[in-house]
Amino acid sequence: MRPDRVVLEADEAGVGGDGGGISPRAGSADRVASNDVASIEPTSVKPTASRRIGDVILALESISLSFGGVKALTDISFDVREHEIRAIIGPNGAGKSSMLNVINGVYRPQSGRIRFHGTERRNIRPHAAAREGIARTFQNIALFKGMSVLDNIMTGRNTLMRGNFVLDALHLGFSRAEELKHRRHVEEVIDFLEIQHVRKTSVGRLPYGLQKRVELARALAAEPKLLLLDEPMAGMNVEEKQDMCRFILDVNDQFGTTIVLIEHDMSVVMDISDRVVVLDYGKKIGDGTPDEVRRNQNVIDAYLGVVH
Ligand SMILES: Nc1ncnc2c1ncn2[C@@H]1O[C@H](COP(=O)(O)OP(=O)(O)O)[C@@H](O)[C@H]1O
Ligand SMILES: [Mg+2]
Repeated sequence: MRPDRVVLEADEAGVGGDGGGISPRAGSADRVASNDVASIEPTSVKPTASRRIGDVILALESISLSFGGVKALTDISFDVREHEIRAIIGPNGAGKSSMLNVINGVYRPQSGRIRFHGTERRNIRPHAAAREGIARTFQNIALFKGMSVLDNIMTGRNTLMRGNFVLDALHLGFSRAEELKHRRHVEEVIDFLEIQHVRKTSVGRLPYGLQKRVELARALAAEPKLLLLDEPMAGMNVEEKQDMCRFILDVNDQFGTTIVLIEHDMSVVMDISDRVVVLDYGKKIGDGTPDEVRRNQNVIDAYLGVVH
């Protein structure tokens, strides 16, 4: 073990410290701020989560994916239960984003099986995954920078609309009643994520943390059953991270949305996840509760060998 090579810089721990109110849940106040995986103290278990968590809704079985000679994923199996927050962690290049791309149909694995709600999915396309209730945000923000916050979030309703492309739907041949229904839902999402004050602002003019929140809003506008978040807190300052943590927990709590979360900040992962799967060089090296994972020697070794 090499304690000088750590997962987090102390000042990146972000959500640790004196309980600055990330979560409305009582148990979340005593979260951890350690800068060493091996020494992270036992953290709170979300008090309501274990009672709410349901059956497996997504099962990945022996997934392998390669790009030419690069094996991005090798024989990965894990499942996701309804209502849980399931984290995927691992060093850069471990295959985390590729895994999300497999789940929502962007990448087609060379082998393996995917079952969603008990049904095996074959060759699903991203828009079909979206129609099935899978929404996501991206590691690099993927919004229309010149469009307003409101219009960007409206694009999240795309899959729920009859038309093929949301702009057509907004401006052409779309019934007023239906448009109002969509707008009402979008306004609810805007209220929920507390971005009313920027709803008319061009996304490109917003600070980074708010852009990430708009991306979450767009995903929520699709009313997803399964929400895939690819590093939603990367590059954020401490306060922005705290806000994002709180919103993720609130979404999970209030809408019961199942969440698969890729995140580098170990204190966040350990605090808000129900279960964690750990990837390293495309292989699964750990899977379990935060407590189990933080005691897993393979995980400790993989993290202590990599500077993040
Ligand atoms: N579209 C792609 N084409 C070629 N190689 C890719 C592609 N996407 C990912 N990879 C490779 O797959 C591996 C895993 O990448 P990625 O899933 O982005 O990792 P992570 O998100 O854990 O950092 C890396 O070696 C990466 O270079
Ligand atoms: Mg990635």
